[in-house]
Amino acid sequence: MDQNCSRGTSDMDGSCDKGRKKESGPVEVQMCQSVLPMHANPQGQLGAGQLLKWMDTTACLAAERHAGMACVTASMDDIQFEETVRVGQVISIKARVNRAFNTSMEVGIYVTVQEVLSGVMKRVCVAFSTFVAKPTGTHKVSLKPLDIQGSVEEMLEYSLASERRRLRLYNEEAFKNLMKDYYNLQDKGLCSRKPVAPVVSTELTRVEGIELVLPPHANHHGNTFGGQIMAWMENVATVAASRLCGCYPSLGAVDMFRFRGPSSVGDRLMFKAMVNNAFQTSVEVGVRVEAYNCEEWNEGTPRHINSASMIYYIPGHDGERQIFPEVTYTTLDGERRFIGSIVRKRIRMARKHILYSGNEGPISVPWDRSNQVFLGYNNVAALTVLAGKRGWEASNINDKVGVYVHEEADKLSLKVEMKVKTTALYAFSLLADLRLRPQWDKNYLSCEEVEKANEEETIYHIKCTTLNGSKSRDFVVLLSKRQPCKDGDPYIIALRSVTMATVPPEENSIRSEVKCAGFLVHEIGYSTCKVSYFNQVTSGVLPYVEGNIAGWSKSMEETAMSCISFLEQDLLTTQF
Ligand code: COA
Repeated sequence: MDQNCSRGTSDMDGSCDKGRKKESGPVEVQMCQSVLPMHANPQGQLGAGQLLKWMDTTACLAAERHAGMACVTASMDDIQFEETVRVGQVISIKARVNRAFNTSMEVGIYVTVQEVLSGVMKRVCVAFSTFVAKPTGTHKVSLKPLDIQGSVEEMLEYSLASERRRLRLYNEEAFKNLMKDYYNLQDKGLCSRKPVAPVVSTELTRVEGIELVLPPHANHHGNTFGGQIMAWMENVATVAASRLCGCYPSLGAVDMFRFRGPSSVGDRLMFKAMVNNAFQTSVEVGVRVEAYNCEEWNEGTPRHINSASMIYYIPGHDGERQIFPEVTYTTLDGERRFIGSIVRKRIRMARKHILYSGNEGPISVPWDRSNQVFLGYNNVAALTVLAGKRGWEASNINDKVGVYVHEEADKLSLKVEMKVKTTALYAFSLLADLRLRPQWDKNYLSCEEVEKANEEETIYHIKCTTLNGSKSRDFVVLLSKRQPCKDGDPYIIALRSVTMATVPPEENSIRSEVKCAGFLVHEIGYSTCKVSYFNQVTSGVLPYVEGNIAGWSKSMEETAMSCISFLEQDLLTTQF
């Protein structure tokens, strides 16, 4: 191996036998590489495959140091490449074990590039890999836990690692759920249709490659390096993308690589790639890897060991990305890939917001009588602007409920539309009394009125359920309600967080915030109305909706159905 690795700060007392689960501090491994012409593509840029190989090697060394034994790559989460690296620059890769679970570990990988002459450093990408400890023999190990007493950042990564693990392990299920939803929407004609001529068939971009796994491609146990497989995958994917655009495309991002099964020295690896879909300035290429040993080769029974999708773009001279030709599919497999790429785009968006939602500044504004008019106006105006946004994407629709998502820069918003058999005024009256919400929303434990400023503005203190074993959350919100000014206008119920000295944060609860949320109620006929719920997702709200965004849960649809039943109850039986 041509890399130059340095040991981290922790001691390496090695073994992870069942009887010796001594805690150890985070292991860190660093690698520096000068980018030489042999690492570059025809444009003199570092090939992404080569970079993936170095990243996997560095991360594997960190994992093996923690485990004290050989480890294999189980997966690498989606990666966005932020910077192009050129020949002559220096790449630094830092890999740190963030958390050890049972047999697996999450390793965080941070890649930067340095301009040699100016010394300027830029971030290239951040990635998270999972490695599984593979002892000789068939028994499973129990890894020693990590002793986190270090920096705040280490503590944060340690806690986030279990969240990321949950998302990772749900990834396949989320994909299947969203595919099912998409086919339903397609049957109802509610999503984009198959593009028609004149467009390019994705079949024209098919590429196949074959590699024989030799000892330099494998570790000392003969298992093929995950990074080597990723590099070969990137190679065929680039050819497929260039067949569509007729020039040299650059790799912008990769979706999760999942290593389904091992391969070893002597295996023949077959790589199949083709363009799945083109989205204006980017294109998604799918790659499948099958392994054969000598007997399997003769019998034609391959092992499917990996599939991934890679996103390419064409860099323009002026910094703008160029447009790809539109594509269509001509086979059933092509259709599945085409739809799959739309679903993966949605999952990428969800993961970006769930994993990297960051630390937003304070959202709540202090409440007092002097700013009441201003706050009420602001509350209603923000909801009206959110509701008027274009480009809501349908994620699930049935006869009564429709769920939509909207993404704009780093803002993610949700909309739930409900068809309710009752008058708009009646629905408005029930929804505008937030004290009734625990009756239909299972996330609400309780809701008390704190202050009624006037007929239109009320402050509530909401206590919500505990999620994933963390503390419960509470919110202090201003509710502003408005009747329609003229026919056709909706009834409006707007919500946003405020702070009040009389309701300080509680010790056993996480004070959370709502930026912009609420209901619009439209009359749509005799005794029927449409209730639309909106929420601009904040880190406080995210835990309650992330399952829906990522596609593994239908809790929002369930809450909406419960809201409809509540609103359709006989007036006399409600407590209103
Ligand atoms: N992403 C992250 N972790 C995963 C995973 C995925 N897609 N699939 C499984 N895991 C984790 C599990 O959570 C479990 O972790 P834990 O023990 O800490 O709870 C661990 O892997 C073992 O899971 P298990 O269900 O017992 O094993 P499995 O039969 O699914 O095997 C692998 C998982 C990764 C060991 C297996 O798929 C494999 O050998 N893959 C090939 C790995 C390889 O050779 N890579 C190099 C390139 S070929």
